[in-house]
Amino acid sequence: MTHPNRVALGEFKPSDYWATHVNSIFYGIKGPEIHNHFQTYVSLDYRLAHALANDFYAKAQSQQRPENDKWVVQEWGVGNGNLAACFLSRLREIDSDNEVYPFVYYILCDESEEILKGVRANARLLEHAGKFSTVRVHAEHLDCFRTHSVAKIITNEIWDDLATKVLLKHQGLYYEEYLCPFLETLPSEDFLEQFKNKDLEKLAAFPNFLNTIHWERDFQRVDLDDWPFAEILKAHAEEFKDEIPMPINTGAFAAIKKARELLGPGNFGYTSFDYGMKTMKDLNQEGRPYFNLYGGQYTFMVNFPLLENIGRSLGFTEITREYQNQFVGKDLGSEVVSLVDLVQNHPQVASMAPWDRDILMLGTLNALNTVYQSPYSGKLDYPALQGTPKKQRKQIAQLAKNLSGRGVPDTVAYVSREEVLAALKPLRKLGYREKDIQSAFQSPPSAVAFVHIQFSS
Ligand SMILES: C[S@@+](CC[C@H](N)C(=O)[O-])C[C@H]1O[C@@H](n2cnc3c(N)ncnc32)[C@H](O)[C@@H]1O
Repeated sequence: MTHPNRVALGEFKPSDYWATHVNSIFYGIKGPEIHNHFQTYVSLDYRLAHALANDFYAKAQSQQRPENDKWVVQEWGVGNGNLAACFLSRLREIDSDNEVYPFVYYILCDESEEILKGVRANARLLEHAGKFSTVRVHAEHLDCFRTHSVAKIITNEIWDDLATKVLLKHQGLYYEEYLCPFLETLPSEDFLEQFKNKDLEKLAAFPNFLNTIHWERDFQRVDLDDWPFAEILKAHAEEFKDEIPMPINTGAFAAIKKARELLGPGNFGYTSFDYGMKTMKDLNQEGRPYFNLYGGQYTFMVNFPLLENIGRSLGFTEITREYQNQFVGKDLGSEVVSLVDLVQNHPQVASMAPWDRDILMLGTLNALNTVYQSPYSGKLDYPALQGTPKKQRKQIAQLAKNLSGRGVPDTVAYVSREEVLAALKPLRKLGYREKDIQSAFQSPPSAVAFVHIQFSS
């Protein structure tokens, strides 16, 4: 029901329309602070990038030298550029015979100029000057590259930002989600026009309005014949349980299609990591979320079974889907968990105040750091949350000061079973029991998880 005191910022439109509208405003107006906004599995950690580099190296060694002596690697939606930097550094390190690294050229593509500015100043990446370039381009319209000119494409957490429709089955009929954004009060007189036209310069004066949008939803009858890849979609939708909103990541369809066009002969495929439902059972799980709002940014969970079907229809013949930690674990030859998952298994964590959880996290980082040695230097910045009482604030500052400059690089960084067991003594002092550690490594994945998918042909 529409609230009488709220002002509509437009009309009800399909979810993909409004979510991409606000996301392009979000990326366009945030300025340099945008870099503080993301914490992903690659923004500070290196293990995913190293696993990709090891895999690339193994494949490149079994291949002929590329055309023009150049293997072009492209990454779409690049954040701070740390994935590219760690990928190149690892490749350089393992390529002692100079068979691969000298022939690799890395292109970082992103829609946001602010993001690319940050990338060009990334010190770790600048070690590879001359080996990379940046291109400002929208991931659904990558028309500036020659077909069959790319050897490898990588994306991490970008599909969830791209256009996504939401479909719901009810008694054999299909309904699409429509959204409408509302605000309690308009920040200025001309705001509606500026919002409609994505007038970034003017909208930048109100950087926080996106957080205060109230979204209303509605479902309207839809004919799937009008949607892209209609036949595949109809077959997929037959398997839907009634009444469960299903994300249909049409932006990812476009990205996979483009990847197929750009990948050249003897390529190493398109690898993507994202957050979503790995199986049909996960899709059909009642009550699982299908969208998220982060600081005003609108993201959707990824429907991996459907994207696999789309990939096959486009001619990719080998497609693999696995949990992201399995991919990293295979590379390390050990099971891995993200540090935050370890902390979640601490026996007292559920009853802790947020600042005490910070203290536990910092204690866990320091415990792991007694055995962990990162190949990169860089101390994790760990400020106290707003509202942290004085005593805990002091404790947090002290623990953060004690963090090692070669320690676990992030609170979401992957740590192996061996590393965790080697730090058992200091972990016990923090209250972890061996069974908590076992359960961190054995927790069944949830219906929405981080997934790795690889398309090859
Ligand atoms: C959630 S961040 C992930 C960044 C990085 N891959 C990582 O994992 O740290 C999404 C990235 O995709 C970029 N992006 C979002 N929409 C895009 C689009 N339509 N085309 C190209 N880049 C886009 C953003 O600017 C940002 O760099």
